[in-house]
Amino acid sequence: MLEELERLGVQAQEELEKASSLDELEAWRQKYLGRRGAITLALRSIGQLPPEERPAAGQRANALNQTLTQAFEARREALQRAALERDLAQNALDVRLPGRKPALGVLHISTQTLREIAFIFAQMGFHVFPTPEVEDDLTNFQLLNIPPHHPARDMWSTFYTTRPGVLLRTHTSPGQIRAMRHFYPEPFRVILPGKCYRYEQVTVRSEQMFHQVEGLVVGKNITMGDLKGTLENFARQMFGPERRLRFRPSYFPFTEPSAEVDIDCILCHGKGCPMCKYSGWLEILGCGMVHPQVLQNGGYDPDLYSGFAFGMGPERIAILKYGIEDIRLFFSNDVRFLAQFA
Ligand code: DAH
Repeated sequence: MLEELERLGVQAQEELEKASSLDELEAWRQKYLGRRGAITLALRSIGQLPPEERPAAGQRANALNQTLTQAFEARREALQRAALERDLAQNALDVRLPGRKPALGVLHISTQTLREIAFIFAQMGFHVFPTPEVEDDLTNFQLLNIPPHHPARDMWSTFYTTRPGVLLRTHTSPGQIRAMRHFYPEPFRVILPGKCYRYEQVTVRSEQMFHQVEGLVVGKNITMGDLKGTLENFARQMFGPERRLRFRPSYFPFTEPSAEVDIDCILCHGKGCPMCKYSGWLEILGCGMVHPQVLQNGGYDPDLYSGFAFGMGPERIAILKYGIEDIRLFFSNDVRFLAQFA
């Protein structure tokens, strides 16, 4: 029995050293230390030995069991460490590589333009006055001299809601009424930036949602000269100090007189090119002196007060400034377009 144990021990140690993977190691464990392993069976068979042989054989078998168990664990640890090192070497992390820059977002070009406009007017003492996108018919139209069923309504195709008299504002001009009612009886200068909506075919030139920036000045002795000076200063800061402006008579129900403002084409400087459709001029906004009836609707006595107003589209401003060819690019979420304005 003792020789048999001796032989088993030597064989087990030899085989253990040859086990080169965790699978082979497990096979070894089953062969020697498992429930039907050689050492386990030897331990169990001790009871069948003659009584005088039992103590020595028992001691020897227990010692061997212990030695092999320890050897097995040491071998397992070594194999696990080797596997880990192999894995680390294969998936090596090269700490010298430069890091990856996280992608930074940019402000939307409409937002940037809105801010630029607001900044220029802030320098001239204009506050930003917030006004709602959901309006009532009264404020969006009637108080601006656009009665129900009047042909002037054709200028604004409208999204109505299911609630009678409630609509998505078609322009920022209703904010004029709200601003006047807010500031009355003080003189004031505000811009009203925000989104507008029109029930129109979406094309290269028109979107159903877009921004406008309305401007309104109300006070005593406000003249068309003030309007011209203000807009000239704006246009030169926005489009370059050498810009020439042209005030073209026009019609809006809420201003009298009304005008549209053109700048000399920023591409051809008035010579004529595809950008200005060979006219030499680019339209940038509508404006005028606040109609006496509109002043009155805002609470101001038109015999004592006067004012001017203007309205422009920042998308249009950006289109002109950057030569953008399609207004639909603004709201189609194509990052290749948007990221250019970083
Ligand atoms: N509300 C006009 C539009 O959407 C733009 C406009 C024109 C605004 C003249 C004004 C103005 O304040 O005086 O077409």
